[in-house]
Amino acid sequence: MNNETIIFSSGNPGKIKEVQSIFKDFEFSIVPQSNIGIQKSAEETACTFVENALLKARYVASKTDHSVIAEDSGLVIDLLDNEPGVFSARYAGENSTDQENINKVLENLKQKNLNQSPAKFIAVVVYISNPNDPIPIIKHGEIIGTVSSKCSGTNGFGYDPIFYPDGSTKTLAEIAPEIKNSISHRGIAFRALLDILK
Ligand code: IMP
Repeated sequence: MNNETIIFSSGNPGKIKEVQSIFKDFEFSIVPQSNIGIQKSAEETACTFVENALLKARYVASKTDHSVIAEDSGLVIDLLDNEPGVFSARYAGENSTDQENINKVLENLKQKNLNQSPAKFIAVVVYISNPNDPIPIIKHGEIIGTVSSKCSGTNGFGYDPIFYPDGSTKTLAEIAPEIKNSISHRGIAFRALLDILK
């Protein structure tokens, strides 16, 4: 590893793939925390994306001399009182699968006699140079669309198969990964961060 190595505080393979692809044309190499022997992630005990991203970043920064990037993201559905929100990864319970989380969203919509609803994905990205960095760089991205019981596609991860970006007849799981990165909450937030790091 060299000076341009940044550790990515995440154990989510879907996220890691997307973020490494966003970084591929830049001089920094982004290395998942597991590559430096960190298997466990910080507990996400806060109620906002930004606080959880900071918790994740500081946890990994306390175990390495490299700079750290962390990202907290999730699906926000107004008609479900902003759920699943910061609980997106564990909406149907700790260690729940993507399919179980999708089922819970669709079940909760059904209870309100809905088979679709406006929704958005939010991502907050944090960069710190050390665990006590007093000036974290924080960037935010979002993508607006509709969640629908018309589940389709196998690309991506998480709630992608039920999320139709505004203006698209395809879900995020049906479009190519490069296209998803060009419009997604994560792509927007990471490119804003990269503009500063460059
Ligand atoms: P966390 O940021 O690790 O707490 O988890 C974010 C969770 O939000 C993921 O596990 C997914 O369930 C969901 N999520 C975040 N971004 C995406 C995305 O791009 N597509 C689909 N689901 C996502």
